Amino acid sequence: MINWWRQMSTSTEQHVERFVLPSGETAWIRMMCLQDVPKVHDLETKAYKDPWSLSHFRHEITDSTVSWPLIAECGVQLLGYAIVWFVEDELHIANIATAPEQRRKGIASQLLAVILEEGLNRQAQRAYLEVRGSNVAAFQLYKKFKFDLIGTRMRYYRDGEDAILMHRFLRPGFDSNITASS
Ligand SMILES: CC(C)(COP(=O)(O)OP(=O)(O)OC[C@H]1O[C@@H](n2cnc3c(N)ncnc32)[C@H](O)[C@@H]1OP(=O)(O)O)[C@@H](O)C(=O)NCCC(=O)NCCS
Repeated sequence: MINWWRQMSTSTEQHVERFVLPSGETAWIRMMCLQDVPKVHDLETKAYKDPWSLSHFRHEITDSTVSWPLIAECGVQLLGYAIVWFVEDELHIANIATAPEQRRKGIASQLLAVILEEGLNRQAQRAYLEVRGSNVAAFQLYKKFKFDLIGTRMRYYRDGEDAILMHRFLRPGFDSNITASS
């Protein structure tokens, strides 16, 4: 059971959330900026065997018209990040990762809860993502957030592994189920 609480504070430009880690320390979720990219990329190289490049992250911040990049931090320590694409009435979770030493503390859950709430705010109808078939941690995370397996993308990753395609609806009236079950 994750022991944290949340306080929302939103504006059109910035979406900020405060939460408390199991240690009792306060952490924040805020929009990613260019200064964050070196730290984010460092975490990316620890999280994935086929990491995004530095320029890919910079593109998400400066050029993309659909990207919503977030970080979670505690003081100057980067805890995790997520990149979401809002395209028409769908949101696509393109990337989400937690620092290896910070895992199983509810950080990805916190990011996902913010993402799904933003989807509702933007009238997105559904959320979807791809995950490696071998990625048990991520698959369990998404199951906890009520994503369903809807298909497979064969040899989706550069090393030839298949991707599992998962989605969930975000309809009004479905709000009470927006966060993970405890
Ligand atoms: C997947 C990942 C983002 C999870 O981050 P996290 O901050 O540790 O996740 P949370 O603490 O919020 O965990 C939420 C739930 O996910 C599931 N989960 C997380 N890690 C798990 C693991 N190692 N094994 C099984 N289930 C796991 C559990 O259901 C967990 O709930 P619980 O702790 O109450 O049992 C993290 O492991 C990671 O960064 N992996 C490398 C990058 C990656 O694979 N990203 C996803 C790409 S699709």
